[in-house]
Amino acid sequence: MPVPETAKPLVLLVEDTAPLAQLYLEYLRRAPVEARAVGSLAEAKEAASTLRPAAVLLDLELPDGNGLDLVDWARGAGLDPAFIVVTAHGSISAAVEAMRAGAQDFLVKPFNAERLVTTVRNALERRRLSRIVETLGTELAEGGFEGFIGTDLSMQAVYRVIDLAAKSRSTVFITGESGTGKEVCAEAIHRRGPRRAGAFVALNCGAVPKELMESEIFGHVKGAFTGATADREGAASRADGGTLFLDELCEMDLALQVKLLRFVQTGVVQPVGSDKSRKVDVRIICATNRDPLAEVEAGRFREDLYYRLHVIPIQLPALRERGGDVLLLARHFLAAFSREEGRGFQGFTPEAEARLCAARWPGNVRQLQNVIRQAVVVHDGELITEAMLPDLDSERPGEAPRAQKPAAPATTPPAASNEIVPLALLERRAIERAIEICGGNMTEAAIRLGVNVSTIYRKRQSWTGQAAE
Ligand SMILES: Nc1ncnc2c1ncn2[C@@H]1O[C@H](COP(=O)(O)OP(=O)(O)OP(=O)(O)O)[C@@H](O)[C@H]1O
Ligand SMILES: [Mg+2]
Repeated sequence: MPVPETAKPLVLLVEDTAPLAQLYLEYLRRAPVEARAVGSLAEAKEAASTLRPAAVLLDLELPDGNGLDLVDWARGAGLDPAFIVVTAHGSISAAVEAMRAGAQDFLVKPFNAERLVTTVRNALERRRLSRIVETLGTELAEGGFEGFIGTDLSMQAVYRVIDLAAKSRSTVFITGESGTGKEVCAEAIHRRGPRRAGAFVALNCGAVPKELMESEIFGHVKGAFTGATADREGAASRADGGTLFLDELCEMDLALQVKLLRFVQTGVVQPVGSDKSRKVDVRIICATNRDPLAEVEAGRFREDLYYRLHVIPIQLPALRERGGDVLLLARHFLAAFSREEGRGFQGFTPEAEARLCAARWPGNVRQLQNVIRQAVVVHDGELITEAMLPDLDSERPGEAPRAQKPAAPATTPPAASNEIVPLALLERRAIERAIEICGGNMTEAAIRLGVNVSTIYRKRQSWTGQAAE
């Protein structure tokens, strides 16, 4: 386990010639390091174990053995200081051997203060960088990145953009199907960036009634409208110094989009009913599971606002496009839910894994999460079998939902083989049927469909006024 390092890294000097040790200590005063000197291999081991130095300046000829032994020993002891080997003039081969054994650099006697300080500084910097790379690598090797599970190349590309976007103040526009992790993405950008100490304020534009939305974003003053019994701060002000996440942005009313555009351009907040305004420092991240350009073309989303917000686009891939991540996620959820529910599941049978991999996952990660949770809640055992999984729409021909389970009766007659049913109609039928099966319980219907309940409300709203098919 790495020990937190003090502000100044510690350099251990292993040199048996006392006057030389004194000289090197003197030289190292010019570097931003702390230095200690020991004179033998045995003392070096003891000091390294207790002090865990960041770098070791190592003389190879020591009274009780060869300095290289310390390099081997340190690796075995789980220590990883940067070794700089000091060799006598004419013994370059010893230096080469030391480098092969894992030393980072070498110095040939005699050397001056500047040479020593530069070498130590470089070795420490290289060690620092390689540790950062290692941490990132470990995070990925464990299958995760800031709340995301998944190592598929498509996701690694996403992580890279998140990393870059986190450092900037530009607006991020996240798109992706329902349940692909847009909110996870927004939080990751906030947490990874310099605003992490500020607030992350999420506002779901699809879940708030149209007439209350302006006040939700910008706040209101007492008496601004019926029910406004006191002043209220809006999301934009609460996010001052932090991040404002506008989720399901495409659901925002056109009239309010004008006000949002003004806010994006000026950073000025004007509460509803107030003639005072104030400037805030907010980073905006927005998300939608619609195709924003199609919304612009359909006249439901303002083009000028789109271009203002669409600065750093992040498109989250659908789960079915993430290859092996399906199993990585499934195992992660299985372990987490088994722990939560006190079950003993250790994994999946090969058939169950094959079914998970072949599924189309229209509700993406959220749907997978729900499928695993349901299986864990209802069953117990060591392995999740195929029979414990619900029917899942399969992507691949020949892997249709298993036959032994009776197919759910359809409320609408099956389409004639050459009939093409519009997607929107299929979706509407699926949602209505789910609500019916769940006895009108929208939340349950949403969970089983693998979407947010707000998605269902929104869809139903869009049907009102349309002729029933
Ligand atoms: N890569 C991932 N690893 C682990 N958990 C994930 C991942 N992606 C999503 N999730 C989980 O799946 C669920 C859905 O994610 P999230 O709410 O971010 O999706 P979304 O794209 O915002 O969906 P919607 O469009 O329906 O709002 C959450 O519980 C989230 O924690
Ligand atoms: Mg969401």
